[in-house]
Amino acid sequence: MTKYIVYKSNSGFTKKYAELLANELGISAINYSDMEEIEKDSDIIFMGWIMASKIQGLSKAQKKFNINAICSVGMAPPSEKITNEIFANNNVEENKFFYLQGGFDMQKLKGIYKILMQIMEKVIRKKLSKNKGEDEELSYMLDMLENGMDCVSIENLKPLLDSLR
Ligand SMILES: Cc1cc2nc3c(=O)[nH]c(=O)nc-3n(C[C@H](O)[C@H](O)[C@H](O)COP(=O)(O)O)c2cc1C
Repeated sequence: MTKYIVYKSNSGFTKKYAELLANELGISAINYSDMEEIEKDSDIIFMGWIMASKIQGLSKAQKKFNINAICSVGMAPPSEKITNEIFANNNVEENKFFYLQGGFDMQKLKGIYKILMQIMEKVIRKKLSKNKGEDEELSYMLDMLENGMDCVSIENLKPLLDSLR
């Protein structure tokens, strides 16, 4: 039986998913920074935001807990490409893995994270101006970086909820 959800969130989207899931399952969502409050080997669901294809906080959580499901939260829409990138960069079992599209909000980023994403925005804008905006994937990314987007929804948790029931 899963006892807790442990989540690591930087700008709030993973936190939002963790709270939605906690409410659905009737268990607590614990912030990664309070992880020491939970006893070792507890059964948990782990949720972490993605930075450069790495699920943040996962490797430390894997050392401490028995993880029943892993959710990674990124800005990209779900696709085979993103799933494969995550498998290549993280130690995750396919049958326990769920990709969730979170969102993006430049206002909520600080320090180096904000600088990196501002650079990314400029690079994508330049690329798109060269090919006259004819790249759907890049146009979508630029829109997200410029205007922000929140894709968190209970519907996105359905595959995970179905697997747990
Ligand atoms: C420095 C940085 C790197 C990122 N790298 C990726 C990435 O590789 N793939 C992806 O889908 N999203 C990436 N993102 C977007 C975040 O994963 C996305 O905004 C996510 O919803 C953040 O979750 P949080 O609000 O819980 O922190 C990156 C964001 C930042 C700031």
